[in-house]
Amino acid sequence: MGIQSELEKIRNEFEGALMRAGSLKDIEDIKVKYLGRKGDLTGILKAVATLPKEERREAGKQANLLKNELTEKLGTFTSGKKTEMSDKREALDVTMPGISSSRGTLHPLTQVMEKINDIFVSLGFSIAEGPEIESEFYNFEALNIPLDHPSRDAFDTFYVDEKHLLRSHTSNVQIHVMEKKDPPVQVIMPGRVYRPDAVDASHSFMFHQVEGLMVDKDVTFADLKGVLSVFCKSIFGENIKMRLRPHFFPFTEPSAEVDISCIICGGKGCRVCSGNGWLEILGAGMVNPKVFKSVGYDPDKYTGFAFGMGVERIAMLLYGIEDIRLFYENDVRFLKQFD
Ligand code: PHE
Repeated sequence: MGIQSELEKIRNEFEGALMRAGSLKDIEDIKVKYLGRKGDLTGILKAVATLPKEERREAGKQANLLKNELTEKLGTFTSGKKTEMSDKREALDVTMPGISSSRGTLHPLTQVMEKINDIFVSLGFSIAEGPEIESEFYNFEALNIPLDHPSRDAFDTFYVDEKHLLRSHTSNVQIHVMEKKDPPVQVIMPGRVYRPDAVDASHSFMFHQVEGLMVDKDVTFADLKGVLSVFCKSIFGENIKMRLRPHFFPFTEPSAEVDISCIICGGKGCRVCSGNGWLEILGAGMVNPKVFKSVGYDPDKYTGFAFGMGVERIAMLLYGIEDIRLFYENDVRFLKQFD
């Protein structure tokens, strides 16, 4: 067979193969078969060298022309194929139902904490935060909790080292705030607190508190009662009743525990309120003059009140949640109820 007809045969085969090519991989195979280093056309170009001199020149020219032709055809075909494939991708049916991704919501504790914050902000309080890793001074001493007080016991506090601990209440922030600012002070201080309690349905080693502090000339116990009663009605509803029971905290004097009428039975007595009609929701009192002294406030000039509440407890009462552990397990079936 002459060179001429061999070249013709290669061209025909090449075009046939190109017509059948359906993918970029097919195109690559064609390139290798016809134009590659060991391909058919390269074979011919090599064979040309062995021809008698008179034929060599013309045959070489023909073979090179074919090589250029095939290379060009392959290029055009490849770019055409690529466009066709991306056109197909764009031709997706946009009316098909999409894959919807569900939206998250704020954690119920965050929601309740924000609710609490909003109520106090509307009463003129501003928001402050303080450290969770704390020195004994801020968590205890400055709050008039003496060395031998039972809550200083290592069993009641997580110690980080000899002198530092995870705060056991948000009252430490009272001290930071008063150290930085002179009266009048009117702040709420939300945050995490830690206590080495055994975990059960109503205890967790970490939980949340919102602390409140108001200091000025002539702040009285009546102011405390007024603020707390507005708070209780705002969060639990207008019909809620509130009462104060005498209590003891080292950093307030006098001190009280605050109860609300049971939001389940309305005060008649049920399982949730252990039959007595009342639920304890927070601790409060008038700031102890010793606390004022430790931050350099003049106790003869200023008075103030403070209170602290557990966010989990309030959230559990609001939503009828019976196990505190639900807040920390992050089970989506639980969380998505709080849209
Ligand atoms: N710190 C107290 C507690 O954790 C709550 C409290 C705060 C009581 C401020 C009185 C005043 O139990």
